[in-house]
Amino acid sequence: MTIYSRITGVGSFLPGKPVSNDDLVARGIETSDEWITSRTGIRFRHLSEAGLTSSQMAREAALKALEMADVAAAELDLIIVATSTPDYIFPSTACLLQGALGNKGAAAFDVQAVCSGFVHALAIADKFIRSGSHNKALVVGAEVFSRILDWQDRGTCVLFGDGAGAVVLEASAQPGILATALHADGSQASILSVPGQISGGQVSGDPFLRMEGQAVFKAAVRVLVDVARECCAAAGMSPADLDWLIPHQANIRIIEATGKKMGLPKDKVVVTVDRHGNTSAASVPLALDEAVRDGRIQRGQRVLLEGVGGGFTWGAVLFEF
Ligand code: ACO
Repeated sequence: MTIYSRITGVGSFLPGKPVSNDDLVARGIETSDEWITSRTGIRFRHLSEAGLTSSQMAREAALKALEMADVAAAELDLIIVATSTPDYIFPSTACLLQGALGNKGAAAFDVQAVCSGFVHALAIADKFIRSGSHNKALVVGAEVFSRILDWQDRGTCVLFGDGAGAVVLEASAQPGILATALHADGSQASILSVPGQISGGQVSGDPFLRMEGQAVFKAAVRVLVDVARECCAAAGMSPADLDWLIPHQANIRIIEATGKKMGLPKDKVVVTVDRHGNTSAASVPLALDEAVRDGRIQRGQRVLLEGVGGGFTWGAVLFEF
């Protein structure tokens, strides 16, 4: 019998109240609602208060996903957290989440693929489940990007937000995840990075997010279209067979250009970037949770999740809900 992995629960968490573009202007950032909205589509983002960590937000999202799946935390045998803003260098955010959920014994580790971290984590969990070695996985994307932003750099600080999204993935005889594809190109490492290091108790280099915006933009559209086609082909489908596309939420122009090149109408593309900003590894599960809970995504429909981010990394997961 073929074993599939099926998403049985989704959940998400956003910290605090929405922060508008005008709120950023009021905080002294030299920008405008017009500049941010016209170039990125971002109107709001959520920013965590001091002390709130990725593992704490992950716990909130995870509890909602576990409740929807009707799975107890103790039943999980695999916990993967995608984050580039872990609570600590170690232990992993996944182990901290495991402790906070009261699970003992599950495999628990982090995945670091920046904004494509969640699709990487989901593809890994799918392989664990399909191999028969694991049965119930919790996969989370959780980020506090506000901690690694240079609030003096208006070209980047207006783009990002904080949050977490989670799914429960279970072994099933029914599909399930149909195809996954993951890629990276380390020669592009410098176009999006936080090039700082900790050594001897000191931070050396630059501990803030740095980005070559236009290079990222061009690379993102190209790889998102390519990996969408690759993943659909692997499942014997074409993009026209998709019910929903949930691309990484970085910029409305990247999202619209990707949908257009794939020939998808706008109403098949889930968009949250206007209200969440770019929450890196949390962006895709946050959007998935919203579209499931508001009733847009229905059981039996085909959904393509796509991520792209620093590394450079990119990937996609195609599933039947
Ligand atoms: N408010 C007002 N003016 C600004 C701001 C701001 N927040 N930021 C930059 N500017 C100014 C610049 O100083 C510059 O002024 P100048 O012409 O007087 O020098 C002007 O706006 C144009 O700056 P550019 O950086 O060239 O602006 P661009 O048109 O490239 O837009 C943007 C920048 C929105 C970042 C764009 O490159 C982009 O969308 N890139 C994609 C990157 C992305 O989405 N990254 C997210 C992370 S990556 C990921 O998740 C995959």
